[in-house]
This record gives sequence, structure tokens and C-alpha cells, in this order.
Amino acid sequence: MSTFKAPKGTYDLLPPDSGRFLAVREAIAAPLRDAGYGYIETPGFEDVRLFARGVGESTDIVSKEMYVFTTKGGDELALRPEGTAAVLRAVLESNLHKTGNLPVKVWYSGSQYRYERPQKGRYRHFSQVGAEAIGAEDPLLDAELIILADQAYRSLGLTRHRILLNSLGDATCRPVYRAALQDFLRALDLDEETRRRVEINPLRVLDDKRPEVRDQLTGAPLLADYLCDACKAYHEEVRALLDGAGVRYEDDPKLVRGLDYYTRTTFEFVHDGLGSQSAVGGGGRYDGLSEMLGGPELPSVGWALGVDRTVLALEAEGVVLDLPPVTSVYAIPLGEAARRALFEKVTELRRAGIATDLSFGGRGLKGAMKSANRSGARLALIAGERDLVDGSVQLKDLESGEQHAVPLAQAVAEIQRLLG
Ligand code: HAM
Repeated sequence: MSTFKAPKGTYDLLPPDSGRFLAVREAIAAPLRDAGYGYIETPGFEDVRLFARGVGESTDIVSKEMYVFTTKGGDELALRPEGTAAVLRAVLESNLHKTGNLPVKVWYSGSQYRYERPQKGRYRHFSQVGAEAIGAEDPLLDAELIILADQAYRSLGLTRHRILLNSLGDATCRPVYRAALQDFLRALDLDEETRRRVEINPLRVLDDKRPEVRDQLTGAPLLADYLCDACKAYHEEVRALLDGAGVRYEDDPKLVRGLDYYTRTTFEFVHDGLGSQSAVGGGGRYDGLSEMLGGPELPSVGWALGVDRTVLALEAEGVVLDLPPVTSVYAIPLGEAARRALFEKVTELRRAGIATDLSFGGRGLKGAMKSANRSGARLALIAGERDLVDGSVQLKDLESGEQHAVPLAQAVAEIQRLLG
């Protein structure tokens, strides 16, 4: 063992389990690609002010959880704790929104970093696949994204995920609600830090998980009762579209998200098999974020799904993904001459697009056969000195155990025939 360990709150993805992570990423990406979302990739770090302004100074993510560092050149950067602010920054910087083709629909996949207290399902390095639809105020888009996430979860075989839905109102109605909520919260018996939060970010208090706070929150004013007519109509339309698509959701008037940029539609995907870290994904509308970043008015909506937690959800439901075996053919050369001859065949097979691996290091038949079986290959291609003298190789079907000799020159064609 090395003297080094993975940093606290992180873990390594190792084969064969890593195959499930790739499959989850692909399952989330596939419906997005089919729905017209293009792939976008931004750097793993950004100007720290992008997140401070975009995600919000008062959020836990910005105030407690960011990995911030100063470069040798004196720039203050942060490892990205989330994707939305960076994606919008990239779209604005490259003027993608000016091509006359709104909304700009993009998807991304990658690492995020948050200095959180680690526990199962909550890591300091984790992976998200996200989607953003930038520059259109249209309930069809909100519904589209929720439906695509549901489709992704279902394509993986998940059934115990739930969709929580809320509206956070807009610049017209939210301030009225905020003031009413503050009035209510100021009358409660709260600790110093929570009192401060009441003044800076009262909606976040609704998300407090401590029983002594929760108990006092019954009777708190609900945003749903303060929505302006425009927000109400917008929300009803999103709900009707989801109903029309047969996607089940639960209205959750207390749902607030840990990022400040949300307006109107907000949602979270939760999975009941995950204990306290039950959110497998989340998102919503962020109509004012572009202006906060110095851009034009660009109402937008998006989500990010946590890959790590989706894998945990699969485990919780006992879903075994049907991953195709990586290797189709496993070559076993026995002796020096056979190594050369089979290595040529392996290269030929790979060039023909057949996934092929071989036994290295001059291993004997028994050990090599074990590796062949473990690789999941359908066929073993075996050659010893005597086979080569005959100009032939042995092909063994690893399922049935049947074995037959074929001329070396026809081995590739025969394998292609057998694999169909
Ligand atoms: P978020 O709710 O902060 O939203 O994160 C989205 C998902 O990332 C969570 O539901 C969870 O599955 C996963 N996640 C977050 N933190 C951790 C962690 N420490 N360990 C493991 N998984 C984690 C956002 O990031 C927004 N940018 C989503 C969005 C996109 N809104 C609009 N567009």
C-alpha cells in the first residue's frame, strides 16, 4: 500500500464498478442529446466572484464550502462547486445567446467540489451531469427538463425516485413574501446564527433540519399564498404539462434550494432509499442570473443530477445494470513464438473493431484461462508451439467450453463469423 490516501471526503472510481458510473452518465446524457442539448465543457475552476455573485454570498456553498485559492499570478479562483454559473458565464462570453437561436440548450458532465462534512452520499468531490436551457421563458422548457430527468432515471431501472415541485416566485412577488416570512421568523426563539440568516436569507430557514427549529415553523407563511398572477399561471402550466406527460410529482410548498439564483419553478429529485442525503438531483428556473453576471435578460432553467447518488440509488433498489462485457476475445499465447503470432492477431482484431485483450507476462494456461473467464469474453484464442507448427490456433467458446482448431490465417474471419 502507498503511504498516500485519497483526500478526506473523496473516493476513487475503480474497475469494474466504474463501469456503472459511466453507464449512469450515459443514461442521463442520452435523452438530453436526443432533445437537442449540445455538449459544453467549462474549466474546473473559475474566478471566485462568479460563484459569490451567482450562487450567492449567503449560501453555505459560497460561505463555507468553496475551495478557494490564489494563483501565483494573484488571481483568486475557486474549484467549481456547481455548473450553472460557469455554463452561463461561458455562454455569455462566447455570445452563444446572440446567434438568434434561443434557448441555448447545453448539457455537461464533470467533477464538482464542495468542502462539506463527508458522509454516505455527501462527498467533497462528486460528479454531476447537468442541463441548462438559456434564454427563454417558456413553461414547456421547465416541463421538458423535468420529463427528461425522469426518463433518465427510468431508463436506468429506477422506480423509487420522487419529484418535488415548487415555485419560488419572481422579483414582483418574492420580496412581499420575504418580508412576511421575516416578520414571522423574527418572533421565534432562534439562535444567533439563524437570526442572522433570517435577515440575509430567510427562505433558507425553512430548510433547517433541526427539530427545535422545525417545530416552530408550523404556521409559517407559504410562498404559494403570495405568488403573483403571472407566477401562478406559469406554475399551473408547468404542472399541467407534467400531468399531460404522465409524470408524477408532489407539490412541496416548503421546497427551497441551497442556491440563491432560483426564481419560479424549482424542483428536486429525491430517492427514499438514500437516508439523509436523499436528493439525487435538483434544479429550477434562474431568470435573473444573467443580469447578476453582467449579461442581458436571459430567463433560463436547468438541473444537475448527482452521479454518485444515482449509483447509490441503484444499489438501494437492487438494480443491476446490464453492462455489456468489455472484452469479446481473450488471447492466450503459450510460448515465445505464439506471443508474436497472437499479438499480430490481437492487433488485427482490434483494428476490425473487436474488443480483444490478451494474457501478458508469459503466464501459463491455467492462470490465463482464469483471466479470460473473468474478462467476460465470449471466445478464447489459444496458441501453443505445436499449434503454430500446424499453422493453426485454437478457438474456445468460453460459455460452452467447446474448442476447435482453425488455420491461423483464417482466425480473424472465423472470430468475426462466430461473434456475428
Ligand atoms: P445542487 O442541488 O446543489 O444543484 O446539486 C445537484 C445534485 O448534485 C444534488 O441533488 C446531489 O445529487 C448532487 N450533490 C450535491 N452536493 C453533493 C455532494 N457533496 N456529494 C454528492 N453529491 C452531491 C446544483 O448544483 C445546481 N447547479 C443545479 C442546477 C442546474 N440548477 C439549475 N441548473
